[in-house]
Amino acid sequence: MNDTFLRACKGEKTEYTPVWLMRQAGRYLPEYQKVRSTTDFLSLCKTPELCVTVTLQPIERLKVDAAILFSDILIPLEAMGANLEFHEGRGPIFPNPIRSHDALSKLIVPDPYEKTGFVLETIRLLRRELQVPLIGFAGAPFTCATYLIEGGSSKMFWETKKMMYTAPDLFHGLMDKITETTIACLKAQAEAGAQALQLFDSWAGILAPGDFIRYALPYAERIINALQESGLPFIYFANNGATLFKYCTATRADVIGLDWRIDIKDAINIVGNKAVQGNLDPFALLLPRKELKERIKRILDRAQDAKGHIFNLGHGIHQFTPPEQAEFMVECVHEISSRQTK
Ligand code: CP3
Repeated sequence: MNDTFLRACKGEKTEYTPVWLMRQAGRYLPEYQKVRSTTDFLSLCKTPELCVTVTLQPIERLKVDAAILFSDILIPLEAMGANLEFHEGRGPIFPNPIRSHDALSKLIVPDPYEKTGFVLETIRLLRRELQVPLIGFAGAPFTCATYLIEGGSSKMFWETKKMMYTAPDLFHGLMDKITETTIACLKAQAEAGAQALQLFDSWAGILAPGDFIRYALPYAERIINALQESGLPFIYFANNGATLFKYCTATRADVIGLDWRIDIKDAINIVGNKAVQGNLDPFALLLPRKELKERIKRILDRAQDAKGHIFNLGHGIHQFTPPEQAEFMVECVHEISSRQTK
């Protein structure tokens, strides 16, 4: 069993820097496209055998040091009773957005074993196959709330901010229900065999620091605290979070995820005594190999003082990325970091 990733999460010394890629299972891989050509995305998420297949694809091809469960952050929201649709090329849609107390009252806090047993079955099956640790995950409540309130993806987040500022009771009521749902889901993932947990706060960066502290962080923190009893390393990734790290660091998360908009050394100075994960710009994979390698080396060099470093992209890999470039990235991280004195 390759446990480099787990040791780096806990700030222990490793022989080389472990690496995985956010969204490593997905459309940039022809082998994923092949599976997807036979089934729609939501059906794929609900078929454990297929989820196992696509989770394993990047492990085999890229030789990464961790696997991430194939699922989606929106699956628990559907289990709460929100209708979820995926339209090709348009991303997720909630046709009945949550914008009233009446709509909120109809959402339930689902039992993950009853409503999302397929996720737990995927984890159990994967643990029999994997030689690297398995990461379970969920969306952070704020990010999940934006999808429910906007009815899908957004650029402006008008409805979300309108609710925060003009109907705070409704907003906090929704956050509360999502938080309880997420705690139950992550506890069930831990029981099923997940070996680390990551909370994706993809949209945290749209908030002013004061609003992040007031409207988002307390809920993420409740989840992190509730999962302490699992003993699993916890990664908190607040995307676009350069101004938010100091608050994320104050939580009990073991690892702070970094996007690419901050120099990793500056981030480590803020994060201090915790491990960091990141922070290559996903589009850097388009660079000629020599330049890509230099960028990877620069990040590894500048992360030498970290309490632990897990190399990753600063956000998910883009669907048009040549897979060979991702393979090359992993090779570079292993090669360069093995040579660095630790
Ligand atoms: O390797 C992995 O990381 C796979 C597991 C995974 C998926 N989504 C599969 C997926 C994970 C960890 C996620 C997280 C996720 N989902 C996030 C947080 C991370 C981030 O990127 O910020 C968010 C915001 C979502 C919601 C979501 N799911 C959106 C907005 C979309 C559409 C946009 C897009 O990339 O197409 C999805 C669909 C989705 N989730 C796909 C995959 C592989 C593509 C679906 C397809 O095959 O057509």
